[in-house]
Amino acid sequence: MLGRVCGIVGYLGHRSALDVVLQGLGRLEYRGYDSAGIALLDGDGSLAVQRSAGALSNLEQRVAEDGREHFVGTGGMGHTRWATHGAPTDRNAHPHRDSTGKVAVVHNGIIENFAELRAELENDGIELSSDTDSEVVAHLVGRAYAAGPAAGDLTAALGIVAARLSGAFTLVVTHADQHDKIVAARRSSPLVVGVGEGETFVASDVAAFIEHTRNAVELGQDQLVTITRDGYLVTDFAGTEVETRPFSVDWDLSAAEKGGHDYFMLKEIEEQPEALSNTLRGHFADGGVVLDEQRISEQDLRDINKVFVVACGTAYHSGLLAKYAIEHWCRIPVEVELASEFRYRDPVLGRDTLVVAISQSGETADTLEAVRHARTQHARVLAISNTNGSQIPRESDAVLYTHAGPEIGVAATKTFLAQIAANYLVGLALAQARGTKYTDELEHEFAELAAMPDAVRSVLETVPQVRELATRMCDAKAVLFLGRHVGYPVALEGALKLKELAYMHAEGFAAGELKHGPIALIEDGLPVVVQMPSLKGHSQLHAKLLSNIREIQARGARTIVIAEEGDEAVRPFADELIEIPAVPTLLQPLVSTVPLQVLAAEIARHRGYDVDKPRNLAKSVTVE
Ligand code: G6P
Repeated sequence: MLGRVCGIVGYLGHRSALDVVLQGLGRLEYRGYDSAGIALLDGDGSLAVQRSAGALSNLEQRVAEDGREHFVGTGGMGHTRWATHGAPTDRNAHPHRDSTGKVAVVHNGIIENFAELRAELENDGIELSSDTDSEVVAHLVGRAYAAGPAAGDLTAALGIVAARLSGAFTLVVTHADQHDKIVAARRSSPLVVGVGEGETFVASDVAAFIEHTRNAVELGQDQLVTITRDGYLVTDFAGTEVETRPFSVDWDLSAAEKGGHDYFMLKEIEEQPEALSNTLRGHFADGGVVLDEQRISEQDLRDINKVFVVACGTAYHSGLLAKYAIEHWCRIPVEVELASEFRYRDPVLGRDTLVVAISQSGETADTLEAVRHARTQHARVLAISNTNGSQIPRESDAVLYTHAGPEIGVAATKTFLAQIAANYLVGLALAQARGTKYTDELEHEFAELAAMPDAVRSVLETVPQVRELATRMCDAKAVLFLGRHVGYPVALEGALKLKELAYMHAEGFAAGELKHGPIALIEDGLPVVVQMPSLKGHSQLHAKLLSNIREIQARGARTIVIAEEGDEAVRPFADELIEIPAVPTLLQPLVSTVPLQVLAAEIARHRGYDVDKPRNLAKSVTVE
C-alpha cells in the first residue's frame, strides 16, 4: 500500500498544462518528495505521461529529455508522493493507468479494501503493473466507463468506483477521450477547486494554484467534482448536486505553502489530529494490532521478558511514555534509554529482550548504533519511524510506521504525537501476544486512542490563548515545567521545545522532586508551567500536585496551569489556566503537549527567531 500524504494538482484552461502542473507540484512538494508524475491531455485522444522516483527535479529532467513537444495541451494533472508503504520507485509513482492506457489516476490517501478489489480485477484477468493501492482505481474506472450504467460518463464512472472504496482518498481522474473534463473525488483527504477566468484547478492545497486565482471552493466529505475550462459541478457520489462553499484566499504565496500560517511548525501543530488518525488507521484490525513489517514470530513475541526503548530528543520523550503503557498493560519491565548512552554501558540483552527504537527520520546515528548493538546481542528490534524504508526500519525485525506525513519544522511536533500513539499500539501488540489483555479490552483501549484526534482538535482551540500568553512570557529569564506520572515526560518535552526554539533556559522536573532541590530556583515572577493530572484518573496525584503548586506560588512563582476542563480545585492557584479536554490518564500527553508546542514556537517568533530552523540544530542527525 502506498501514499498517504501526497500532493495533487489538476488543471484545465488556456495555458500550457505542463507549466501549470509542474509549478503547482513545486508548491506542494512539502507534502512529499519520494516520486512525482504527470499525465497531460493533449487533445488528440492520448495521454502524455511521465513519472520518476525521487524529487520533482528528476521528473523535470525526464520531461526535458523527452522534449517539451511531447507534453502539449492545456489540461492535465500531477502528483508528488510521500511513500509510506512500499518502495518509492518509478513503477509505483503516480499517475496510474488502466489496461487501455486511456484512464489515468492520481491518489492521496489509502484505500483499505484494495486487496479485495485487486483480487477481483486479477480474477478477471487484469494485470496490475504496480504494488500500489491506487492502481485498482484506474482499472475500476476504466471498466465502469467502458460498459454499464456509467458508460462514456467519466463523472458517473468515478462516482460508482468511489462509493466502493473504503479508507481515505483524494482521487483525480482523466480520460484520454475527454480532454475538456477532469473529475475528482474526496473522502477524509483534502481537495480544493480553484476557479479562474477560463481555467479551473483541483488541488490538495490552494498553494498549487494561488498564483492564478484566489477564488476557491472546498469539497465536503464524499463529494465529487467535475471541472471544465468554464466552471465546475459538485455532486455526491450518486450524482446529486450539492451546495458548495466558495471562499476567497487572502494569504500570499509563501503563507499559502504553510497553509496560511507564519511558519511550518504551527501548520504541523494544527495537522496533529490528521497525523494521529493516519498513524492509527489500518493498524488495528480484527481485534488486533497490525504492524507494517513483522519478522518476529508470535512465539518469540510471547517470550519477551524485558523491553528497552531507545531514542533521542523528542522521540526519547515519547519513549518515556511507552514505559507507562507497556508496564501497565503487559506487566513486562521497561527501561527507556537515551540512544547515545545505551550501548556504552553494556546493557543486559538477549533473545528475550525487545528493543523498541523510535526515530522520526529513521536515520539518527545514535539510535541506529543502538539498534546495531542490540542485534549483535541477539535482541529483537522493533522500529517506530516516520520515514518509509529508512535505515533503522531496514535493520529491524519489525516496523510500525507513524504515517504522520513530512515534517518540515526541525522541532518535532506532529511526529511526537504520532510516536506516542505508535508506542501505545506496540504496547497493545505485546499485551495481545502475551495474553495480558482480552480482545474486548484491546478493542476498548484502541477505541479510546481512536477518539484522540477529536480531543486534539478541541485542544487546538487554545491556540489563540497560548499565543497571547506567549507575548507576555518572551522576556522571562527562565521557565520551569512540572508534571507527575505521564505529565513528567510532557514537562521534559515542554522544556526541550522552549530551549531549542526560543533559546531560553528551561527545565522540566517531576513535581515530587521539586522539594529535593529545584524549589531553590523559584523566585518572584518566575513562570512555572504545571501539568495537572486527570482528576478522575489520578485523584491522589492531583491532590499532591495541588500542594506543589501552593508551595511554588507561596514563593512567588507565576503559575501557568494546564488542567482538565472542570478542574475547579486548581483554579485559585492558577495565574493562567489553560483548559484541556478530560481524557484517559495515559492519553493525556496527546492533548497536554499541544499548548506547550505553541507556547515555545510563539515565544521564539516574538523573540525574532526562525521557528522552523532553530540555530545549531538539524532535523536528522547522522553523526554520533
Ligand atoms: C534531532 C532533532 C530532534 C529529534 C531528534 C531525534 O536532534 O533536532 O527534534 O527529536 O533528532 O530524531 P529522530 O529522527 O531520531 O526522531
